[in-house]
Amino acid sequence: STNRTFTMIKPDAVENGHIGGILDKITSAGFKIVAMKYTQLSRRDAQAFYAIHKERPFFGELVDFMTRGPIVSAILEKDNAVEDFRALIGATNPADAAEGTIRKLFATSIAENAVHGSDSDENAAIEGAFHFAGREIF
Ligand code: CMP
Repeated sequence: STNRTFTMIKPDAVENGHIGGILDKITSAGFKIVAMKYTQLSRRDAQAFYAIHKERPFFGELVDFMTRGPIVSAILEKDNAVEDFRALIGATNPADAAEGTIRKLFATSIAENAVHGSDSDENAAIEGAFHFAGREIF
């Protein structure tokens, strides 16, 4: 639905102690957490989640990175959620991300960029359903 998006706090941000800082930015921006878990992706999970990128030269690196430690996954609710969340996280490459965005504040590199945000309403629904059962969404 148009008022939900899906996010992950990626392994780099977890390792660097930024779970709390990122969740504060998210909730302070008006997003309501309707589902959340602390988990680790298997290689099969990561390959399926990022299947759209499987021909990219960085696919192997991406799967290695996303499976190397725990993540926080969440479904977020707000008017205009997908677009507003992408503005909040900033550009894929933190070097290009605007001041005050989550990636500017917390990301390391284009590969280790702290957070995921769905790029469309359709993908938000697919990605949320990949990570959460209906009874885990409140
Ligand atoms: P995201 O846009 O959330 O989803 C695709 C991910 O692939 C991206 O975040 C980065 O983590 C990763 N990625 C994108 N571009 C590159 C790149 N040039 N090199 C390595 N990883 C990348």
